[in-house]
Amino acid sequence: MERFEPKKFITRKIQNLRSQASGKRIIVAVSGGIDSMVCFEIARKATIKQEGQTIPFIIDTGLMRQNEVKQIEEYFRKKYNIELQRWDKQNDFISALKGIISPEEKRKTFRDVFYRIMSQAMRSYAADLLVQGTILSDIVETQKGIKTHFNVLHEAGINPANYGLNLFEPLKELTKSRVKMVAKNLDIPPKFLRIQPFPGPGFALRITGEVTYERVEKIRKATEIVESELMSPKIFQGFPVLLTDKATGIQNESAFVGDIIAIRIVESKDSLTARSYRIPWIKLDKIAKRILTEIPGIARVLYDVTPKPPGTIEFV
Ligand code: XMP
Repeated sequence: MERFEPKKFITRKIQNLRSQASGKRIIVAVSGGIDSMVCFEIARKATIKQEGQTIPFIIDTGLMRQNEVKQIEEYFRKKYNIELQRWDKQNDFISALKGIISPEEKRKTFRDVFYRIMSQAMRSYAADLLVQGTILSDIVETQKGIKTHFNVLHEAGINPANYGLNLFEPLKELTKSRVKMVAKNLDIPPKFLRIQPFPGPGFALRITGEVTYERVEKIRKATEIVESELMSPKIFQGFPVLLTDKATGIQNESAFVGDIIAIRIVESKDSLTARSYRIPWIKLDKIAKRILTEIPGIARVLYDVTPKPPGTIEFV
């Protein structure tokens, strides 16, 4: 493998963007993850001479973690003194996902809603170029038919022009570890290097079966509990999943039929393989008790011990 030089990569991408974006307005699709933060830094540097040329933009899908969008907005305010543009589109996503059970259908539906909204945003801000943080593994997994990543169009056989979009995807040729190397050479705080990967379609993938407001709220609360209890640097990703099946529980001395939540915590280097994290029993017990007492309607908590392969990291 040739030696990767992050500084040269950054210079090259800034030059590419300058030549494509001269005199044009740019929107950067922000998600709060490291890939889109690297894209924003590259775009910001490329357009530094023209204030307002680069607009950071986020779609609140309603499928993100508690307060996540707020925290990203605050970050942009504090660090850049820029107002992150936010469109609240929870209803669009939840209503489009109604009745969909198949994981691939969920991903494709999410993708379509996402780009239709992006297309409206481009027109509304009179922008000509959309910068997005698609990385190599998103493209490879989509092309191989493993998983349709929502942020891959061209390689999935979809012409971005169908959505009226002109894309700039500076990280397309990079693996996650190279994105991190690039981030270390940009003005990006180290906390972005440590945050857990969170899929673009968010809670749509943390719920088996149908996505509804009520089910999203349950998994959002469970996610807050699991994330607040997990500290080990060994953990690559740790999250709960709301299952479709039901189980019997007891409450106030009478039986009830409630939901089942599975907890998946994995160790992994690159997400290609993973093993179930050997969580201390006392910790697991605490997480289970909190889920069962703090979230109404949960009857059972399970721990997933499946390695990847044969399991994938996500359930959906
Ligand atoms: P799997 O489930 O394929 O996950 O073992 C590997 C890594 O990819 C993330 N992942 C996704 N990220 N859109 C995303 O943005 C998706 O559709 C998606 N599916 C999986 C997963 O969280 C893990 O880090």
